[in-house]
This record gives sequence, structure tokens and C-alpha cells, in this order.
Amino acid sequence: MLFENMPRITEEEVKEALRFAYSEGDFYQPIENDDWTTGFWTGEIWLAYEYSGDERLKKAGELQIQSFLNRIDNKIAVDHHDMGFLYSPSCVAGYKLIGDRSGREAAIKAADQLITRYHPVGEFLQAWGAMDEPGNYRLIIDCLINLPLLYWASEETGEDKYRDIAEKHIHTAIKNVIREDYSTWHTFFFDMATGAPDHGATCQGYRDGSAWARGQAWGIYGSALAYKYTKREEYIEIFKHVTQYFLEHLPKDMIPFWDLEFTDGDDQPRDSSSASIAACGMLEMIKYMNTEDASIYKNLAEQIMKSVYDNYAVKDPKVSNGLVLHSTYSNHSPYNTCNHYGVDECNSWGDYFYMEALTRLQKDWILYW
Ligand code: GLY
Repeated sequence: MLFENMPRITEEEVKEALRFAYSEGDFYQPIENDDWTTGFWTGEIWLAYEYSGDERLKKAGELQIQSFLNRIDNKIAVDHHDMGFLYSPSCVAGYKLIGDRSGREAAIKAADQLITRYHPVGEFLQAWGAMDEPGNYRLIIDCLINLPLLYWASEETGEDKYRDIAEKHIHTAIKNVIREDYSTWHTFFFDMATGAPDHGATCQGYRDGSAWARGQAWGIYGSALAYKYTKREEYIEIFKHVTQYFLEHLPKDMIPFWDLEFTDGDDQPRDSSSASIAACGMLEMIKYMNTEDASIYKNLAEQIMKSVYDNYAVKDPKVSNGLVLHSTYSNHSPYNTCNHYGVDECNSWGDYFYMEALTRLQKDWILYW
């Protein structure tokens, strides 16, 4: 069995890790609420509030929600698909936890914004850019994590339109971004006139045919969430295969390099955030599995989190004001189309999913997604 001898994180270590919560030189600078990443910091605040019950954290979360309401009301940098990443861990979380009505209002408006990106012909939500531009007529694997916002919006409003679009997108995405060997495409293009699947391409991975580590991790968490919301049996198998591919391409310490093309001995940066994202996906999926399968994936998640905690987590605030070192946001290669930034740094989603995984290991967590 893969990683049979790797130790698992203990209950004591989970508690200890939760006590500590894209940097530059491993330190975050303050930023405006105008990137796709800002929901993670508010999500960390809510997770910390759940853990500690500290009223100051609740106040901080409420203040952040006002900023997210302002953002969607004034349409500040919301012309893309990342409404779920932004509004689930911030506003849906605040509404679920403390009944914050502004959070509810903001999140429903964000869901309305997200469905404007739907193409009925290809049956998918377009990730980036102008909706009539052929070079942008594509979905990306990350979007699977944006869809719980739509399921939540349908439950809250009683309107099916959000759920219907989410379901269509899930089916289109899973059919096309997962390759025969269960590695994944980062992005997938469709024919604008007919909506027919056209071709896969990477943006943040090493090259077109490789598996970008975080894309594979979004595929693991995304297929678990796809099962949670659709209850389609085949998504359990998809989850298992996509996870197996990830596991088979991990180095010895279970923390992937930024692309699964690389492993021990390669002089390449890691992406520790992918490890925590994958662990969260496993910890979600075990809720729907038989006891035997659930125990396999629970053990794997505990092993991964032990390695993140022991070898990647920040334990000294002089080293970094982030939580987890050695993540990679965007690593330029000769074969991809992304710029070079946030390489071998902390990043807010790495920190957030680290805390989410620990919280999942500590209690029965009501998910923000
Ligand atoms: N969703 C963007 C990323 O994972 O970098």
C-alpha cells in the first residue's frame, strides 16, 4: 500500500496546529479586497472563531463581510467565475455561523453574478475574460469549488436556476477535464458555435499534457463536492481515481511539487497548498463512503496533514506571518501561459485549507462550501 509507513497527525497535534493560524519573503502585505483570494482570509477568521469562540474574531468577520457586500454592490473585480472562492468562506460562512444577514445578501448577489458567466450552448461557466471572446471560451478545473455557492443560493432562495446551472457545469467539467489516466487538464476549451468540446490546455501547469498539482487537488475536492451535491455514483469512482493519480505522483513526504511531472530529486518548488486541499477533499468524501474506504482516506488525510504540520507549517512568527510555507501560486515555464509570482511562498488558500483540514480532523465541521 502507498505510504504505509508514514505517520498520521495526532489529536494533540491538530489542537496545537490550530493555535497558530501569497507572501513576499514569507510575509503577507496588506491588500485591497479586489483579488480572487480574499475570501480565504475571512474564512480563516471564521475557522479561528469556531475554534476559540473569541468575540473579537466574530467582530472581525462581520467587518470583512461589509467589505464583501461593498465589493459585489459596486462590482469591484467580480467579472470572473471565482464568486465561490470569494463568497463561500466569507459570507456564506458568516451567515451559517452567526446568521449574518449582510453575508446572506452578499452571497446571493455573488451567485447572481456567477450565473451571468453561464454559456447554455456549451453548458459551462466561463472562467475568465469577456464572454464573447473565442480565446476565453473555456472552463477551468478550479471552478468545481465555486459551485457550492450556487447550491446554497438555491436552498436559500428556493429558486432552481442556480442549482440547474451548477449541475450542468459539473457534468460538462467532469466529462472533459479528466483524462483517460485520471490526470487532469487545468483548462478546457469549447467550440463557440456548437459548444462541442475542443481541446485542453494548461495555464499554471508545467506543460499541456502534465498534471498541475493544484489542478489535480481541485479535482479531488471538486469531485467530492460534486458527489455531495449530485449524489451521482460515478463521481465516487472519479474521486478515487483522481486521488490515486495524485498519490502515485507524490514525493516521499507526500507534499507535491508544483506540477506532478516532478518528484524527489527534481530542483523544483513544492505546492504545499495542494496537499491540504487534497486532504480536505478526502475528509469530505469519507462522509459518503463505506467504513473500509472511509478509513483508508481518513488515514491518508491524517498522514498528509502530519507532514504539512511537521515540515511546512510556520511555528515561529519571526519566520513568516503566514501559516504554511512552500506553496506555489504561479510558476512560469517555457510551456505555460502564466506569469511568475508567489513561487515557494505562503498563500492565503494554502493557509485556509490547512486550517479547514485541521478543523475537519478536530470536529464534525459544517462546511462553508
Ligand atoms: N484558482 C487559482 C489557483 O488555484 O491558482
